[in-house]
Amino acid sequence: MKLIFGFLVLILAKSYGRTLPSLSKPLSAEPPCSSNASAAWVDVVLLIDNSINMGASNLNKAKTVINSVFSKFPLGNNDNIKQGVHNTRVGIVTYNYEASITAQFTAINNRNDLSRALDGIQISNRNESNLYDALISSLYVVWNCSGTVQIFPDNCPNDFRPVAFVIFAASSYPSINNEIPALVSQEVLFDSDILTFITVNLNNADHTLTSILNKITYNSIIQTSMYNFSIDSNTISDDLEWALLQGFFK
Ligand SMILES: *[C@@H]1O[C@H](CO)[C@@H](O)[C@H](O)[C@H]1NC(C)=O
Ligand SMILES: *[C@@H]1O[C@H](CO)[C@@H](O)[C@H](O)[C@H]1NC(C)=O
Ligand SMILES: *[C@@H]1O[C@H](CO)[C@@H](O)[C@H](O)[C@H]1NC(C)=O
Ligand SMILES: *[C@@H]1O[C@H](CO)[C@@H](O)[C@H](O)[C@H]1NC(C)=O
Repeated sequence: MKLIFGFLVLILAKSYGRTLPSLSKPLSAEPPCSSNASAAWVDVVLLIDNSINMGASNLNKAKTVINSVFSKFPLGNNDNIKQGVHNTRVGIVTYNYEASITAQFTAINNRNDLSRALDGIQISNRNESNLYDALISSLYVVWNCSGTVQIFPDNCPNDFRPVAFVIFAASSYPSINNEIPALVSQEVLFDSDILTFITVNLNNADHTLTSILNKITYNSIIQTSMYNFSIDSNTISDDLEWALLQGFFK
């Protein structure tokens, strides 16, 4: 998606900001939350860097971790939580010089769909890791209600499911990424009542990247970054599963 599209969203968000219905309804009105992945109902967007910075080996590591984590979640698109259906929806956004929506929620109904979608992701020939654009595109995945994108949909049955953006990042380049902390602090777009950021750093040597990821996972209540992980951790799969389940208790 072109950057200009992103700015359009920001402008729309600004001009519609005052008349927007509240996006956050208390989750307590819904069925009880779970700490058991097999009963999880959450919308997950995977943001996967497929630039040269990522490299094939790191991309494969990320794919393996994702397949392992989501083997524990009940993947599917039946989002009728009010009838007690517990499903986890997964969408995929890949990014290099710009972002692409690789899989809408509706494209992934089971583990095979997820695994096939991941298999299709290849390293591009670009050296930009435009995470900024990927974050905008991820909003479009979440806002795609029944096939049409409605900015701030009010009538989607799935409107208030918890959302997690799981970011696999390998570079801070280009510099537009320095604006990510300011972007995600716009509550009207990135509603912290329902949205959890989870990051997986694939390039700890990039201090700018590490700093950006620490900022977007910063929790002001406990005054530390919560879900900022590193691919090098030998507990990365467990850490991701745990972080996804914590999203319920926001
Ligand atoms: C998770 O839920 C499943 C199905 O409801 C159940 O079989 C399993 O024992 C539960 N696991 C834990 C750790 O509670
Ligand atoms: C990215 O690639 C372009 C050429 O395609 C090159 O000019 C530029 O220096 C590269 N930048 C980085 C940070 O690797
Ligand atoms: C919304 O999702 C549907 C599939 O559910 C897809 O066909 C459509 O292209 C998406 N719209 C946008 C603007 O991404
Ligand atoms: C997460 O962020 C905190 C700072 O808030 C930092 O101390 C910690 O090293 C970071 N963890 C990783 C894996 O980057």
